[in-house]
Amino acid sequence: MTVESLLSVLADGKFHSGEQLGETLGVSRTAVWKQIKKVEGLGLVLESVKGKGYCIRGGLDLLSRSAIQSGLASEARDLLGDFLVLGTVDSTNTVATDGAQGDVIVAEQQTAGRGRRGRQWQSPFASNIYLSLVWEFAGGAAALEGLSLAVGVAVVDALAACSLGGVALKWPNDVLVDGRKLAGVLLEMSGDAAGPCKVIVGVGLNVNMPAAPAIDQPWVDVNTLAMGTVSRNQLVIALLNQLLPLLSHYERSGFASIRERWLALNAFQGEQVFVTLGDEVIVGHMAGVDGSGALLLDTVSGRRVFNGGEVSLRRVTSGA
Ligand code: BTN
Repeated sequence: MTVESLLSVLADGKFHSGEQLGETLGVSRTAVWKQIKKVEGLGLVLESVKGKGYCIRGGLDLLSRSAIQSGLASEARDLLGDFLVLGTVDSTNTVATDGAQGDVIVAEQQTAGRGRRGRQWQSPFASNIYLSLVWEFAGGAAALEGLSLAVGVAVVDALAACSLGGVALKWPNDVLVDGRKLAGVLLEMSGDAAGPCKVIVGVGLNVNMPAAPAIDQPWVDVNTLAMGTVSRNQLVIALLNQLLPLLSHYERSGFASIRERWLALNAFQGEQVFVTLGDEVIVGHMAGVDGSGALLLDTVSGRRVFNGGEVSLRRVTSGA
């Protein structure tokens, strides 16, 4: 018996006695008890009441490989490679480094989730979405400028398909609602600048974040915005329905065809912002992005252009 099989029974939020769990899962009560300890180790709150057994209050919304696969639109299904739905991993982007074209990895938990600029990405169990997708491009990394912004637009479209609106993008690809971070995108590329290269597209989406995670910026999750529970499987379906076709068309169509949409979603358009580039802090007005997705900043000494990488952007008046 694995901890996953125990969780699939406890996911209904009801009480199950040790004896009943042992019978359902075909193992001894001692084996059940050992797995119960592992459940607690995942950071889940397990209630134990004498005479009633064990229960996870409110139940769990677990990822289901079959539910996701059968919910995909036909274009996404045709583009999907190997599809892994995992329990605990260090980072889905790390697992994806061994992957090939169209492979997708989702996990219930990451122990070393990575954010942009060396930050950690909080990844508690069965709470949010941690998804990585592998795509191979023949034309080299240079042809992929703007891809990370395009991924942000695809995430916004996926959220809209789940009836979540009011979403904006902070350059290059933070997904915000009212200045609070809902999702983040981390692209990692390997291979040739001019020839074949492989891109791992990592998306982290806050869905049902437990109280008080250690996040050093304003954040929000899907369930708070929806004022109810949105199925994580539906959210993964919506993300894959947008991301797989985007990646398959991107090399041909590039960022230019998506630029107007990105600008319409720009959280800071025309606002006074500051850009941090290493030790340098530059203040100016956010003038949008160019045809390759580079940030345009109007400063007192003229227009400056910034590419992705280690640049960070902040609104002058708020913490977002
Ligand atoms: C950001 O800092 O905004 C980017 C966050 C990206 C997080 C996702 S979760 C899935 C994938 N695996 C990781 O370790 N990081 C990305």
